Parts: sequence; C-alpha cells; structure tokens
Amino acid sequence: MINQQLITKIKSAKRVAVLTGAGISAESGIPTFRGAGGYWRNYRAEDLATPEAFARDPKLIWEWYAMRMQVCLDAKPNPGHEVVAKMESYFPEFLLVTQNVDNLHPRAGNTKLVEIHGNIFTARCTSCQKKFKMESIPKQIPVQCNFCNSLARPHIVWFGESYDLKLLQIARNFLLESDLLFIIGTSGQVGVPVQLASEAISHGSYAIEINPENSTISNLVNMHFANSSGEIL
Ligand code: APR
Ligand code: ZN
Repeated sequence: MINQQLITKIKSAKRVAVLTGAGISAESGIPTFRGAGGYWRNYRAEDLATPEAFARDPKLIWEWYAMRMQVCLDAKPNPGHEVVAKMESYFPEFLLVTQNVDNLHPRAGNTKLVEIHGNIFTARCTSCQKKFKMESIPKQIPVQCNFCNSLARPHIVWFGESYDLKLLQIARNFLLESDLLFIIGTSGQVGVPVQLASEAISHGSYAIEINPENSTISNLVNMHFANSSGEIL
C-alpha cells in the first residue's frame, strides 16, 4: 500500500539515506549470510571471515573469497540496486551506507556510498597496508601484495575487527541529519549498522524498511514493507 502521504513525504525529502544489507542482493542470486545459502564446504561466514581463520589458513580463506568473487562477478545488479542508484541524482542530498561487499551498488552506479564492511574486490597488504583493486579472480592464491610482495588479505571488516572510524563518522554525520532513511534487506544482527539506524530515527529521520521478514530494527521504523526489495523499490 503506497499512500499519497508517503509519496508526498518521499518527493519532498531533501536529505535521504539508504542502509542496505545482503537482502538487496538476494534477487541477484547472491546468498544472504543467515539464509540457507550462507554455507560453503560446511563452513559458515562466521568461521571464515575472521583474522584467526586467515592467520591459520590464508589459502583456504582466499579460496573462499575467490569463490565469492566469482559469484559476485556472475551476478548483476537487480531493480533494487538500480532504483537506489537513481535515488542518488533524484534527491538533493543522498548517501548510501551498505554492509555489502559484493560491489553491486557501485556497478549499479552509486558513487555517494560508504561500504562500511569493505569491498570483496579490494585487497590490503598485511605488511605495508597498501590497498589495491582486483579486477578479476586472483590468479595466485594466497594473494601477494602488488607493491611489496608480502601476504595480502581481503579488505573486509571481519568478525571481531574494528570498523574504519572515518567511514563510520561520514555515515553517522549524514544519517543524523537525514529526513528520510530506507533500511533495505538487513536482519539487523550486526550492531554498528543497527546503531546508525536507531540514532538516525531518534534524531527524527522517517524510516522505511523493506524486508520480507522482521529485523531487529522493525520495531523502530515508521513503515515496513514486507516484500522483496526489487519489487517494492
Ligand atoms: N529483499 C529484501 N530483503 C531480503 C530479501 C529480498 N529479496 N531476501 C532476504 N532478505 C532479508 C532477510 O529477511 C534478512 O533479514 O535480508 C536480510 C539478510 O540478513 P543477513 O543475511 O543477516 O545479512 P545482513 O543483515 O546484511 O548481515 C549483516 O553480517 O555476516 C555479516 O558482515 C556480514 O554484512 C554482513 C552483516
Ligand atoms: Zn605490501
């Protein structure tokens, strides 16, 4: 049910934020983390996306990421990503904050975005810390640094690791001043994004959630569309 009041609210919004999770990429065929497809060789993301797992077996972790990079390369942005990309030029001020590392939002055309969990096509050197892009699946596993040849790791925030505080500050500053916030496809299991959303809402942002299920944020939002994002957006 899209009522006139909501349409007016969306059309008159000046500063619009979008917070996305794995659900927006589900219709692109990328398994969500906590859904059925979240397994690989009987491991869960929580077992593999950790600094301890990488220290123990960098080759296994790079094999997992190479598989996921292939899934992301084979996937394409769906109508949900495309609408979020169009929002960027439609609203006077816009910021996309995503938990997704699958690179589908940049491929759909979003440039005003903060990838708070990193990007699966960026590697970071474990010694000189330099970051570099990987256009395709790494030929050599584990990946070596393009600059100093030391062991490189995916530039992703792993479980138990801290966020890039600069990125978080950018996201937080924008969200606190936003007048409209779309929360799309996240279960709200991870603390920081939930914190960002609840702070924005308590600062007066009108929150619209799109998720077939309830999330930990559902009780805070103004409207919840229990449908898939590609369809609703
Ligand atoms: N449209 C919208 N939402 C959907 C769709 C869809 N078509 N399909 C599934 N969802 C919803 C699910 O109902 C679920 O609430 O997407 C959500 C996916 O939740 P998770 O798998 O927990 O993914 P996410 O919330 O992004 O996880 C957050 O946790 O694993 C870590 O770092 C990882 O970024 C990830 C973070
Ligand atoms: Zn290096």
